[in-house]
Amino acid sequence: MTTTALIVAAGKGERLGGGLPKQYRLLGGKPVLRRAIEALIGHRAIDAVRVVIGPGQQDLAAAALAGLDVGRPIEGGAERADSVRAGLAQLSGDAVLVHDAARPFCPPAVIDRLLPPLEFFDGAAPVLAVGDTLARATDTLGEPVDRTGMVRVQTPQAFRLDALRAAYAAWSGDAPTDETTVARAAGLKVATVQGDTALEKITEPADFERAEQWLASRLV
Ligand code: CTP
Ligand code: MG
Repeated sequence: MTTTALIVAAGKGERLGGGLPKQYRLLGGKPVLRRAIEALIGHRAIDAVRVVIGPGQQDLAAAALAGLDVGRPIEGGAERADSVRAGLAQLSGDAVLVHDAARPFCPPAVIDRLLPPLEFFDGAAPVLAVGDTLARATDTLGEPVDRTGMVRVQTPQAFRLDALRAAYAAWSGDAPTDETTVARAAGLKVATVQGDTALEKITEPADFERAEQWLASRLV
């Protein structure tokens, strides 16, 4: 089985703010995007890594990707799903691992867990149980939501390439935030594997601070 990792890095990072899109921000001296790639590129089950970048991000990407074997960056689109579609169109091989550049620390063990299920399933995704109370957000605290059996879904997400392409071709809903959403709508069977707190996405400023602290704690 040949597997390509597709890293989507074409976002603007508006919720993090600060001008520079978050995937190009330095985290412990390295761009977030570079960390996300380095976490995948050496894995023995990954044959190639490709990156999707935003229009106008060529110079930022060239600096962040210097010396990495990722081919030519692919130009993404306005929504994450547009970027994934653009990337999928350029790939070949049997399987794809779609991954957010905004998740810079992917443990190799997660990749080890994601690929074996592709023998029996169309896809596989890392998930974490929900530990906090869930409730609807309104002006004051809204109705509680039963968290029993609920999970948070992370990336990377592994798919048979032809199955994921077909699922995206069939998708007609609003902008999906990940591949499992598109895959389930198309009736694909997606296995779940244990996720990892190291895979938390950098979304808000507090996430970036947590990532910096986590990195610093690993260096001592
Ligand atoms: N992404 C992308 N193309 C887009 C939008 C997002 O490739 N048009 C990527 C981001 O670069 C990120 C991942 O999808 O690695 C997850 O998206 P998100 O966390 O929402 O990142 P941004 O869209 O950049 O952030 P924000 O929504 O706060 O602007
Ligand atoms: Mg976004």
